[in-house]
Amino acid sequence: MFKRIKLLIDAESYKEIKKASFLLIADGIFHGFNYGMLFFTLLNLVNGTLTSNKVLKYTIIMIAASLIRYFLLNKGYTKVQISGSKAIKNLRIRMGDYIRDINMGFFNKNNIGELTNIMTNDLRDFEQWITHMIPTSSKLLVLLIYLTITIIAIQPKLGLIQIGIIAVCLPLIGFCSDAIKKTGYMSKKVRARMLSRVIEYVKGMECFKSFNLVGESFKNLKNSLLDLKKESIRLELNAAKYVMPMTIIINISFPIVMAIGVNDFIRGSIDAENLMMFVIMSLALTNIMRGFIKIYAESRYFSLSCDKLLSIIETPQISHDLEKYNFKNYDIEFKNVDFEYIEGKQVLKNISFLAKENQRTALVGESGSGKSTVLNLITRFWDAGSGEITIGGLDVKKLYVDELLRHISMVFQDVYLLQDTIYENIRMGNENVSKEDVVNAAKLANCHDFIMKLPEGYDTVIQEGGESLSGGEKQRISIARAILKDAPIVLLDEATASLDADNEYEIQNAIKKITKDKTVLVIAHRLNTIKDSDQILVFEDGNIIEGGSHDELIVKGGKYSGMYKSMCEAKEWQI
Ligand SMILES: Nc1ncnc2c1ncn2[C@@H]1O[C@H](COP(=O)(O)OP(=O)(O)O)[C@@H](O)[C@H]1O
Ligand SMILES: [Mg+2]
Repeated sequence: MFKRIKLLIDAESYKEIKKASFLLIADGIFHGFNYGMLFFTLLNLVNGTLTSNKVLKYTIIMIAASLIRYFLLNKGYTKVQISGSKAIKNLRIRMGDYIRDINMGFFNKNNIGELTNIMTNDLRDFEQWITHMIPTSSKLLVLLIYLTITIIAIQPKLGLIQIGIIAVCLPLIGFCSDAIKKTGYMSKKVRARMLSRVIEYVKGMECFKSFNLVGESFKNLKNSLLDLKKESIRLELNAAKYVMPMTIIINISFPIVMAIGVNDFIRGSIDAENLMMFVIMSLALTNIMRGFIKIYAESRYFSLSCDKLLSIIETPQISHDLEKYNFKNYDIEFKNVDFEYIEGKQVLKNISFLAKENQRTALVGESGSGKSTVLNLITRFWDAGSGEITIGGLDVKKLYVDELLRHISMVFQDVYLLQDTIYENIRMGNENVSKEDVVNAAKLANCHDFIMKLPEGYDTVIQEGGESLSGGEKQRISIARAILKDAPIVLLDEATASLDADNEYEIQNAIKKITKDKTVLVIAHRLNTIKDSDQILVFEDGNIIEGGSHDELIVKGGKYSGMYKSMCEAKEWQI
């Protein structure tokens, strides 16, 4: 258990929490003093040896123990709270850092709910577990040991009988722990699914409304909420199934030993004071034991969060050999690259091509033929299976992704805008640019005019995802980002969404400005925009079936020439 916790929290917080736990355990020991003093008071009372001096002594000891306990509790809880919050804060940052370098394959739709659940609920549960449950259960355990020894010392026979009865609970504790683990995992899974559904429901609202699917989609959400309710009840019942009999056994142990004790007293084998002391201690033991069982069961559930958090830390990260490096040039080369997102479903099949620097390479082909995948591999959003992808002769798999991405500008179909001002959305954290640079980039990307029409110009805050802007506007903002970044490699995935003619013209103009003197890879959906590319690669079902300049491909009379012809015919038809 402690090994797993150690993997998650920083060494300093771990040490502090451990210290705090010892303080709380010490509190448990001093708590035991009260029982001890009670024991002596009764002993003296029954023996008729209680003097006011002794009462004073016991009282002073109890007050001193209370003061010490106050100090221990105060220090222990403050320490555990502060170091717990610190540990969780550090863990949050570490997890955020870690997730950044996880293969993009991790972030599929199903995982978003799971990830949200882990980053919120599991982190909170883990904090509860290490800051409350572990210290409290350790303290109760100390009291239990203390009381067990005491009752056996007072009355070995009765003590052992009671411990024997309570020991029947031991296997039940094991079963309870297994049951909570099993149902706890299930309830966590259902909760994660429910969160995915909520996210889907809220994000897709616009689309659902336009297709009149709100009711249908709500049905899904409602079902997952009902599932969660069912699982939560099952978890409670399952825990209760074991906690209840354990509580009953513990409760029963008391009247049984009491009856035996009274019988022994009547027969004269035990004296009154011994019996009375035993009864008090035995009652205390059953109380503490019940508390312990309850917190143990809860603690088992909360400890599952630890596994969940570890499951993220144990997800393979994208590795790299080179932290810092220089590219000799910005040629991008694919050498016999194979790739599959899902095992057994090959998406790229032995792809080879060279995209030279200062040249524009266009990727064309039907939807699903693998064009976007090529860009995903260059940026290491995913890593290629076999084969090699090099930039300036360096294998991208060896390169530190953060550094690699500094050299690449991307303009993708789905432009993601942060919930921040337009200014920050163009600047994207680049500290070295001035307001003027941002405005210039926006002007070049033909978005200055529409930005100035917004209520607060560059300071207008965009809604998350940029829902308040049109597709064309969002794409032009992403072009402004790329212009500002001025990276030597430019990857473009043209918008397929129907852009109006004005927007399309402006976007094409803007794109020309980022692609000058760069290694440009562009996925084109309108062939007229890439006619003058240096090289056109035609994709079909994960293969490159032909490549060359526009003129060469037209002469060849293959797939490209067919595509081009049908586009021209469609245009004529439109006219
Ligand atoms: N994240 C993903 N997980 C699984 N399969 C994917 C993923 N992204 C794309 N694919 C599949 O890979 C194939 C190629 O997709 P893609 O490269 O996007 O094609 P294109 O850009 O040419 O339309 C398609 O069959 C698509 O369904
Ligand atoms: Mg695509």
